[in-house]
Amino acid sequence: MYGRRIEFPYETHALRTSRVRRNAPVRYGSKNIPKMSHASDYWDALAPYHSALENNYFDLSGLHRIFHDIREPALVVGAGQGLIVEELLRNGFQTDGVDLSSEMIRYAKRRRGLTLIEADAKALPFGAGTYETIIYATGVVDFMGDEEQISVILNEARRIQNRRERYLSRSTN
Ligand SMILES: C[S@@+](CC[C@H](N)C(=O)[O-])C[C@H]1O[C@@H](n2cnc3c(N)ncnc32)[C@H](O)[C@@H]1O
Repeated sequence: MYGRRIEFPYETHALRTSRVRRNAPVRYGSKNIPKMSHASDYWDALAPYHSALENNYFDLSGLHRIFHDIREPALVVGAGQGLIVEELLRNGFQTDGVDLSSEMIRYAKRRRGLTLIEADAKALPFGAGTYETIIYATGVVDFMGDEEQISVILNEARRIQNRRERYLSRSTN
């Protein structure tokens, strides 16, 4: 996902996959690697390094290019440490952000003073028709291989989105 190598003392998806294939214990160099049992574990572990990587791919300049498509209130799903949420707020859009990772949310508060909502894209804590625009970050749908689970996420978006004629699903970092 990210262009440069960082020291990351946790089990990555690739390591996890190879362990499952070979049925062998995972080690990273000489370190014992904590076992990850939930997707949020990965993002919790990445959180301390995320600030160096966050403004990539669909970055802030990319966000500016789709401003004309965004209707408020907007929701960023997979808001991370709030890069996109902060920029939308700064430009006058009423915006909320949700994220699966309690660590990402903690950093969003510490770095940007933002209060994000801890929630899974598969079960969002909002009523029908709450948002006009929903933006998905990289790391939510595009990290998934299970089409049924992707459908669950997209059905949640349909449920909480008000404007049936507009559906904005963008990949942001
Ligand atoms: C690459 S980061 C997004 C960075 C973000 N755009 C920013 O402005 O800093 C992807 C985020 O998606 C979150 N995420 C992944 N799967 C999720 C899910 N099912 N529900 C909610 N958040 C999820 C991760 O916890 C992670 O913080």
